[in-house]
Amino acid sequence: MVLAGITMSAATLPFSAGTLMGKTKEAMPRVKIIDLKDLPKGESFVFNYPDDSQPAVLVHMKNGQLKAYNNKCTHLQCGVFWSSEEEKLVCPCHHGFFSVETGHPIAGPPQRELPLIELEVKSGTVYAVGRKVRHGAERA
Ligand code: FES
Repeated sequence: MVLAGITMSAATLPFSAGTLMGKTKEAMPRVKIIDLKDLPKGESFVFNYPDDSQPAVLVHMKNGQLKAYNNKCTHLQCGVFWSSEEEKLVCPCHHGFFSVETGHPIAGPPQRELPLIELEVKSGTVYAVGRKVRHGAERA
């Protein structure tokens, strides 16, 4: 009986360890967003990442930098959009504003920053390759 228990535990160990390793690694997919030629400076593009339930916005800033964030407002989850006139990410629900450079809230009710989408540009194509959530970051 004891031997059977040990054998069973040993048999399930590699599966359990693999599952735990998979969860802690948090592998994110590499997803094509857009060809850079189709996104002029000052404009934005809405996409989903890492899956269809997670809306995000890519901004091609006037200085040429690219920034992307999950665009669910950190206040009450309304959709945040890019305002090229104000050069800010704006939440229309309660007039929340976020910095496009950092994702930090800069005005209105939001207190937490937008999750940053990590980007890669290869051969003129922009890809999402990961996501960073910095817990506990407060208003800048
Ligand atoms: S939901 Fe965005 S400011 Fe309230």
